[in-house]
Amino acid sequence: MNIILLGPPGAGKGTQSAGLVERHGMKQLSTGDMLRAAVAEGTPVGLEAKAIMDRGEFVSDEIVSKLIDDNIAAMPADQGAIFDGYPRTAAQGEQLDEILAKHGRKLDYVIELSVDLDALVERITGRFSCANCGALYHDTANPPAKEGVCDNCGSIEFKRRPDDNEETVRTRNKEYTEKTAPILPRYEERGIVKRVDGMADIDAVAASIDAVLKG
Ligand code: AP5
Ligand code: MG
Repeated sequence: MNIILLGPPGAGKGTQSAGLVERHGMKQLSTGDMLRAAVAEGTPVGLEAKAIMDRGEFVSDEIVSKLIDDNIAAMPADQGAIFDGYPRTAAQGEQLDEILAKHGRKLDYVIELSVDLDALVERITGRFSCANCGALYHDTANPPAKEGVCDNCGSIEFKRRPDDNEETVRTRNKEYTEKTAPILPRYEERGIVKRVDGMADIDAVAASIDAVLKG
């Protein structure tokens, strides 16, 4: 099964992807995570992307679609893919169709996490992750069971994203509203869009997504 998780910054795409990987053995393809890895490694893509990401604007369609294509090419044909934060523009939607066709895959569902944009600033400014394994947390909504220790790997090092500040979040929301939300009709025409209440608690959102996948 191949699915897109669609939603604005802080909607819970990364959190729900991690659950799907654990429950169903799918592979998370997050262009944001790929770009952050490129920035950390100082690759040419990372050097080009860093300032754009820090401003909350979109990196070029060519760069992100190439990342997706390369990652799909390396996946076993029978493993399902979760597209997290991709596609984000009309051009990326077209490129994804081409990439999927090339690799003999088809898109099963576009799961839209419906959320209240105003509530997301608090989610994003409270977010942190494990510096070792990347597990996602939130200061109040989802802290580690033992304060200061990662539930997943036991590390005591955590980090916050440089783009998780109020000003950048506003730009990221604007980019989503102007460029990403308008790609939904492409999938509505195909009858594959499913809406899930992204404001419910994390486990309830996961249960709603699983209900969609069961068909
Ligand atoms: P990306 O990394 O994709 O960021 P984003 O889309 O802004 O989304 P986030 O990762 O901020 O949010 P999320 O939906 O994953 O929420 P999360 O689960 O973490 O992209 C970053 C940048 O890279 C872009 O701005 C752009 O520059 C570039 N980029 C990436 N892809 C691109 C593309 N395709 N084209 C062009 N440029 C691209 O949850 C957030 C917080 O809330 C966490 O703390 C979590 O614990 C908490 N939380 C989650 N769910 C719940 C819940 N149900 N209740 C309470 N708290 C919750
Ligand atoms: Mg994310």
